[in-house]
Amino acid sequence: MTEPYDAVGVIRTKRDGGELTSGQIDWVIDAYTRGLVAEEQMSALAMAIFLNGMSDAELSRWTAAMIASGERLDLSGVTRPTVDKHSTGGVGDKITLPLAPLVAACGAAVPQLSGRGLGHTGGTLDKLESIPGWRAGVSNEAFLRQLDEVGAVVCAAGAGLAPADRKLYALRDVTATVDSIPLIASSIMSKKIAEGSAALVLDVKVGAGAFMRDLAGAQRLASTMVGLGEAAGVRTVALLTAMDTPLGRTAGNALEVAESVEVLAGGGPADVVELTLALAREMVSCAGLDVDPAEALRDGRAMDVWRQMIAAQGGDPLAPLPVARERHVVTAPASGTVLALDALAVGTAAWRLGAGRSRKEDAVSAGAGVVMFAKPGDTVRAGEPLLELHADDPARFDGALAALAGGIRIGDGPAATAALLIDRVAAF
Ligand code: URA
Repeated sequence: MTEPYDAVGVIRTKRDGGELTSGQIDWVIDAYTRGLVAEEQMSALAMAIFLNGMSDAELSRWTAAMIASGERLDLSGVTRPTVDKHSTGGVGDKITLPLAPLVAACGAAVPQLSGRGLGHTGGTLDKLESIPGWRAGVSNEAFLRQLDEVGAVVCAAGAGLAPADRKLYALRDVTATVDSIPLIASSIMSKKIAEGSAALVLDVKVGAGAFMRDLAGAQRLASTMVGLGEAAGVRTVALLTAMDTPLGRTAGNALEVAESVEVLAGGGPADVVELTLALAREMVSCAGLDVDPAEALRDGRAMDVWRQMIAAQGGDPLAPLPVARERHVVTAPASGTVLALDALAVGTAAWRLGAGRSRKEDAVSAGAGVVMFAKPGDTVRAGEPLLELHADDPARFDGALAALAGGIRIGDGPAATAALLIDRVAAF
């Protein structure tokens, strides 16, 4: 079969600042998925897009072509209103864990197809896999049944969902083309739209530990994603939230599960509770339900759903969680106020302790991570414990300590702590 376009011509158009036609976009995504467009050609095209951007028309066609590269789930048989959430990724971001059962307890169905972590931000599946017996793989039938009966499923996305993105994201990771607004927006939204949920709430992180370090960039990313979602018929809202310091008091797989269970039990750190409730209110409202999520958290219904959700995937919600073999305490070098605890430094430390992976084939340690005894705004005395590092292998402590160097500032207060909820972007 003769091909209607050639890769070099498509790359040249974009390289020279031209606009790709719908035909060129449909062809290049399809041909790349089929292996006809080579990795080096897609690398060049990704870099041309990184440098020259995309028009609105190009971006919506690019996203549609990525969706069309695979299957689109049909959730029309689910009896509850469907609503999903996506976070652009942050350190200590365990929010999906209490959020999915909480929103399900309010009457919605939450289909969360998640990934594993790469780099300094952990993956939701890695966290849940620290629960004894829990399985990330779920068949299509079991997925739909669990959505209806329990109301929440957090599981691995199948290979059939937006396969073009799977290839392209791996390529962008090694060609310095990840942090491009059109490429991030189309990557996230193609997967989320293919997932078939009727509504979507986005948590777009802003700050030192996020993709988007500045507010203007995060606002542009949020409105681009909201526009793509709405155009595809998915009711979409974005909250912009701070990611200068880690969320909560733990970063690491089992450590974050334990903290999430505390939230479901009515306790937990104030920032994790605040963000969980803010996202839950948006999700419940997008799903058209008139209920207060705080009530479902308070009266234990969210905890009941959590236990059902874990048990439905083979996990034992009451089993003790794995604990790392070794600990190392970092003490405060001086008395004063904690002025900064840098999210990227803590995320990198947790990763080096074994909580994250460098290559997608690597295994992660369930017990490894960082416990934070003090956060920005807290006062500490010299010699008091600030952080506790957890690892299976004590040889990992030096690398983690090096990552933390310069990431903790103690001085005369008060700390300039930014509000957690920064902005809301929606088309309605
Ligand atoms: N997450 C994704 O799925 N894609 C991106 O491009 C960035 C973050």
